[in-house]
Amino acid sequence: MAVEIKSPEEIEKMRAAGRLAGQLLEYLEPFVQPGVTTNRLNTLAHEWTLDHGATPAPLNYKGFPKSICTSVNEVVCHGIPADRELVDGDIINIDVTPIVDGFHGDTSEMYAVGEISEEAQELIRVTHESLWLGILEVAPKKRLGDIGAAIYEHAHKRHHYGVVEAFCGHGIGREFHMSPQVPHVGRRGAGLRIRPGMTFTIEPMINEGTPHCDIQSDGWTAITRDRRLSAQAEHTILVTETGFEILTARKRMPTAHTLEL
Ligand code: MF3
Ligand code: CO
Ligand code: CO
Repeated sequence: MAVEIKSPEEIEKMRAAGRLAGQLLEYLEPFVQPGVTTNRLNTLAHEWTLDHGATPAPLNYKGFPKSICTSVNEVVCHGIPADRELVDGDIINIDVTPIVDGFHGDTSEMYAVGEISEEAQELIRVTHESLWLGILEVAPKKRLGDIGAAIYEHAHKRHHYGVVEAFCGHGIGREFHMSPQVPHVGRRGAGLRIRPGMTFTIEPMINEGTPHCDIQSDGWTAITRDRRLSAQAEHTILVTETGFEILTARKRMPTAHTLEL
């Protein structure tokens, strides 16, 4: 399938959607505390999104029942908000996708609930580093395989974590998920050529142990086959003439600079 090249007008709309997505994560962050339920985070996100004139894309997407994904501990992705209270030591990924003026902004971040183990901290740090090393590959004439190779080399070859292959990054725009697929493993110089005006997500899921996942009986929740921890971070990226622009950037976030890459 052909990959869409956004017009300048469409790029402006993608910027607005990405900006709101980043702001939604900033709004939610202080609520991530021991005792809060993932349902409460969902309600806060849902209402904030509507209050800002946007629509939460996950709600009713292929039957998904909630407005955000909340993936705790061994949940790899697509965790469904529920009455479970977060407890000290949990790690949680919150994945948000507001639709603004017809365009999607998709981003997710990890949060520590209270004090978390050194192992969990290390997993989250390497996940951020992996996302960033992937982003730094984005430039015209490079290929999608360069992104996956950078992520895999860091997360697996260097740190011996499992890189999930069952879920990929994706093109994004008027649709939530469009071509191309953006794998988090790959071979340098292989795959689709990256061109200015493309918009896609990079969203590596990095597991402490096995990269394999099981899907729970709700049809959505993906968990690690060995039930060890999983972490994920996601940005929506625009390919520019010289490199990349992170459409879902926010004021406080890990960057290549703060990660010392
Ligand atoms: N936001 C997820 C992604 O990054 C997709 C969630 S689909 C849903 O692609 F239906 F679970 F919301
Ligand atoms: Co995504
Ligand atoms: Co997402």
